[in-house]
Amino acid sequence: MGRSFLGQSEAAATHAKSKDEYLTLRLANRHGLVTGATGTGKTVTLQVLAEGFSRAGVPVFAADIKGDLSGVAAQGEAKDFLLKRAEEVGITYTPDSFPVIFWDMFGEQGHPVRATISEMGPLLLARLMGLNDTQEGVLNIVFRIADEQGLLLLDLKDLRAMLAHVSANAATLTATYGNVSAQSVGAIQRQLLVLENQGADKFFGEPALDIADIMRVDRSGYGTINILAADKLMGSPRLYACFLLWLLSELFERLPEVGDPDKPKLVFFFDEAHLLFNEAPKALLEKVEQVVRLIRSKGVGVYFVTQNPLDVPETVLAQLGNRVQHALRAFTPRDQKAVKAAAETFRPNPDLDTAKAIMELGKGEALVSMLEGNGIPSMVERTLIRPPSGRIGPLTPAERAAILAKSPVGHLYDTPVDRESAFEMLQARTEEKTQPEPEDAAPSSGGGSILDSILGGVLGTATGAPTPRVPSPTGRTAGTGSTGTRPSTRMSTTEVVVRQVARSVATQVGSQLGKAILRGILGSISKR
Ligand SMILES: Nc1ncnc2c1ncn2[C@@H]1O[C@H](COP(=O)(O)OP(=O)(O)OP(=O)(O)O)[C@@H](O)[C@H]1O
Ligand SMILES: [Mg+2]
Repeated sequence: MGRSFLGQSEAAATHAKSKDEYLTLRLANRHGLVTGATGTGKTVTLQVLAEGFSRAGVPVFAADIKGDLSGVAAQGEAKDFLLKRAEEVGITYTPDSFPVIFWDMFGEQGHPVRATISEMGPLLLARLMGLNDTQEGVLNIVFRIADEQGLLLLDLKDLRAMLAHVSANAATLTATYGNVSAQSVGAIQRQLLVLENQGADKFFGEPALDIADIMRVDRSGYGTINILAADKLMGSPRLYACFLLWLLSELFERLPEVGDPDKPKLVFFFDEAHLLFNEAPKALLEKVEQVVRLIRSKGVGVYFVTQNPLDVPETVLAQLGNRVQHALRAFTPRDQKAVKAAAETFRPNPDLDTAKAIMELGKGEALVSMLEGNGIPSMVERTLIRPPSGRIGPLTPAERAAILAKSPVGHLYDTPVDRESAFEMLQARTEEKTQPEPEDAAPSSGGGSILDSILGGVLGTATGAPTPRVPSPTGRTAGTGSTGTRPSTRMSTTEVVVRQVARSVATQVGSQLGKAILRGILGSISKR
């Protein structure tokens, strides 16, 4: 095994007969790229790749722009064009369905997916709000003050309160931290309102997404396919881009080094990838490039999906080893240039005019070059992509609802009561901490007391509470990080609260002890 069948290439002069194309799982963490014009087969190819990973026990995270990836949760039907394609590529059509967890930043078509303000960090937030350099500088200061004074930044309300606090003490703070002008704070406050109107208030807060929950393997050994509803999210492209970058940096920060594993730990698909790079400032692009480069050794494969390879900056493109290029149209001389450039990103095949082929490819047909052997891209081949085993096209709302109802993570993210109690408690703490004069707010001598008091507080409010899960030094909560098993019992409300609080406190304690701030590489204060 160790590989996943992708399709079959035409008989070229170099081959006695047609050649099967595979994605080698051992090399799947060396990233990939799926490109092509509208309606040429990108989403189906993404589905084929995702199904292959799932079968191999590799969990997947993918954004679903049009809702048509959701069908992977249902068995495919033996339609004529699928049977025909199966025969063309030399396989028997075998319908199958895959374990799917639906997520939605707006909490409508999936489990709510959230992050805290402090996890998102100033760099991504500045990008999200479109701040200029001066304003970004002030936001950095706001985060530093929050860190030093032990103020938890969880949701937009926390950030708003913090901005007001900084604004009110601007004169004193400027002496210590540099210029925090009321004007800049005001500008950030206005942008915060815009963000709120885009629905970001639903995204920031708790319970925050625990990445262990997107790395599950079901009982039959299939990797879970996590699908983020992104149709509505496309209306806020910045929010979409920042969320995905945040998730990537979280994975980077929290997963251990594994070198080159037999198969990836997780594969991440970035659809509409051009949105990540459009107008992105240089500092952010450099970080994206860095994360993509480094996350490989954590066993995470990143696959970008976009129209043309040129949508991806060259430094990132150079790292995408496994390539599938669907058809591109070339009506204008400019289009033709783009086709030529796309063709030149492949390792040439003497028997194939790559640029010409790109324009001739039919639906579900692509130029394919996969990494093989010791990580060298195979010569580009013209390939018929296999049919997926799950359904092509969206689930019905009823089917989606049924899957959501029996989801293994619903109890962790859906229950508003849980969220509310954790949020209120932390909010109270934040307000309490805001009271003293900034000069008096000395950092606490150790993490233990904060941890004890908060955990104690949680347990005190619940009767018959189970033993709390103890936060590990990395901020992960022991016992919840295992992949490959479903939680054997349902977590109680208290457990959920403890899990979230422990995580936030660990973040806070980490920074108070002067250790590296537990914030994603993209969200970190220092411009590494
Ligand atoms: N491998 C395949 N086997 C069989 N049919 C396919 C295959 N790939 C694509 N098709 C057919 O082509 C149609 C369009 O494919 P798909 O939705 O993947 O295009 P797309 O590039 O994602 O388009 P868009 O840019 O509009 O999202 C599919 O609905 C299906 O009918
Ligand atoms: Mg598509």
